[in-house]
Amino acid sequence: MASEIELLDVQAGYGRAAPVLRGLTVEVPAGTIVCLVGPNGAGKSTVLKVASGLLAPRSGTIRVGGVEVTGQGPQRMLASGVAHVLQGHSVFAEMTVAENVLLGAYTIKDKARVAARTEFVRDLFPVVAERWDTLAGLLSGGQQKQVEFARSLMVDPKVVLLDEPSMGLDPKATSTVFEQVVRMRDAGTAVLLVEQNARRALETADIGCVLDLGRVHISGPAADLLADPQLADLYLGGRPAEPRP
Ligand SMILES: Nc1ncnc2c1ncn2[C@@H]1O[C@H](COP(=O)(O)OP(=O)(O)O)[C@@H](O)[C@H]1O
Ligand SMILES: [Mg+2]
Repeated sequence: MASEIELLDVQAGYGRAAPVLRGLTVEVPAGTIVCLVGPNGAGKSTVLKVASGLLAPRSGTIRVGGVEVTGQGPQRMLASGVAHVLQGHSVFAEMTVAENVLLGAYTIKDKARVAARTEFVRDLFPVVAERWDTLAGLLSGGQQKQVEFARSLMVDPKVVLLDEPSMGLDPKATSTVFEQVVRMRDAGTAVLLVEQNARRALETADIGCVLDLGRVHISGPAADLLADPQLADLYLGGRPAEPRP
């Protein structure tokens, strides 16, 4: 089966500056969480911007569900099945949770479909259902992130792009958010996750990729990357402490 999204040999950058991505290849098979890790400034957000059509690649190929979509803008990419949850916070604090979630359905004309998707995301994210009529600004950071997840799933995307969902969250909220990422995968949406919080993200993901100098230079089962001592020293802030007997 074709991957939900493939970026093949992508070069991309900003204006006249040297390219940020220099022959990057990454794919997200159906039913998986693929995690791209790398330090601040490595180009993780740039990968997601290319994947969602916010930034056109200078060269390379992008396919969604096996169909080439290279060069399409964000609206076409969304219609093709790619949803993007941006880095930072993007809930509207003065609007209710319901209004924030329903913004994700603005492209859907069929009211019955909107109702069905609403029920789906309320089931998947219990906190969204519980706080449905609350102003979103009153929710914690982790709860707001789940509102953003729910909004992104309203279009029933093939793949959702998550840009550092744990940013600014405490460890408990981070765990909850990553549990919800797994639920999204289990409910049928493939996930391309980028994170600076590499260890936690690799513990959640099925496949891990390390971004370095604009390319993916190591990829494989996330558990293998976590177990590699050299990788741990280079990218994961050292090895975890040995568990006490
Ligand atoms: N809008 C932009 N205009 C110019 N340069 C940018 C822009 N966004 C990012 N960059 C540059 O591209 C590089 C990669 O940035 P980014 O993809 O945001 O990295 P990461 O998400 O891994 O921290 C950095 O050198 C950054 O300064
Ligand atoms: Mg970033």
